[in-house]
Amino acid sequence: MPTLRLGPLELETPVLSAPIAGFTDSIYRRTVRDLGGCGLLFTEMVWAGGWVQGKIDPGRLDGVAEEPRPLGVQLWDREPELIEEAARRLAEMHVSLIDLNFGCPKKRIMGRHAAGATLLRDPATVGKLVAAAVRGAGAVPVTAKIRLGPSLAARTATDVARSIQDNGAVAITVHGRTADQHYGDPCHLDLIGEVVQAVSIPVVANGDVHDVASARRTLEATGAAGVMVARAALTRPWIFREISAALSGTTVPPPPTALEQKTLLLRNHAAMVEREGDPRGTILMRKFACRYIAGAPGTHAFRDAITRARDAADFCDIVERLFPLDEDAAGAAIEPLLDEFACE
Ligand SMILES: Cc1cc2nc3c(=O)[nH]c(=O)nc-3n(C[C@H](O)[C@H](O)[C@H](O)COP(=O)(O)O)c2cc1C
Repeated sequence: MPTLRLGPLELETPVLSAPIAGFTDSIYRRTVRDLGGCGLLFTEMVWAGGWVQGKIDPGRLDGVAEEPRPLGVQLWDREPELIEEAARRLAEMHVSLIDLNFGCPKKRIMGRHAAGATLLRDPATVGKLVAAAVRGAGAVPVTAKIRLGPSLAARTATDVARSIQDNGAVAITVHGRTADQHYGDPCHLDLIGEVVQAVSIPVVANGDVHDVASARRTLEATGAAGVMVARAALTRPWIFREISAALSGTTVPPPPTALEQKTLLLRNHAAMVEREGDPRGTILMRKFACRYIAGAPGTHAFRDAITRARDAADFCDIVERLFPLDEDAAGAAIEPLLDEFACE
């Protein structure tokens, strides 16, 4: 099995689970961990200033203190002292790795906060933020996640990546799109490859990896040391074990049976309701339930009903009645809805 070393952290497999706001909470992470094959899991992005200054309830850190390692936490902000303090707190929680977000194209983050992908215009500030995280993190390794630049006309990724490296980060993840491309155009694997050439620390390639073939293609075309998967894993959280098995030359395991998928869905719903109460937990679970079987034939009635589930009893009833236990529908060749998301 090829491994991936991120500073002091040795990952068992170079296949990583991306930070996804609104999705990669502790319940999702448990699912991915249980299914196996994932080298490193990330939280959703956490606003360092909001947390440190007590402006937000850092619910995105739920589970972080106690759940199994390795676990990475992603921070965003544009103030070095806030990043440093947040990193110091995370180090006290013994997280495995701290990642900084320089890729979020959301208007609120780029505009009002001038953070996320806005910082791709400013490699020097990116460097200061990385240096601050490294100071706060102590022995915990720091990484950063970037896009190719604000736009194709302003591709700053190589300068930004050098600044990240020079200020002490141990690896960089590159999503192969510019900020203004959101998720629309295909990823530019060649431009991820330029970043790989520009730095000596490991680069993890991200964007449009949705099966074994696209993972192989991405690694070959970019020369990256690993791949990170986001959207496809919301539909098929067992994708990590498939890619990891293929990369290590072992037999790719079959997807969970339809019954196993149904059991997983009910388990996650119960955990969500326990954490959030009902009906809030049920309402939050609707989006996961839809994606679990997105695109599979014969699932329309289930998706239609589950998006309107009112409470826990209603949710369970819909799953019992309509979850497609036909293996063809629930288990096989489910294509992720890659363009479904409007923003991150
Ligand atoms: C709904 C949504 C939320 C996201 N949240 C984050 C986030 O919190 N931090 C981050 O670095 N990237 C975030 N991303 C970007 C993904 O991590 C990833 O870079 C992008 O989706 C491309 O990978 P994919 O083609 O495998 O989905 C988000 C993407 C989506 C669709």
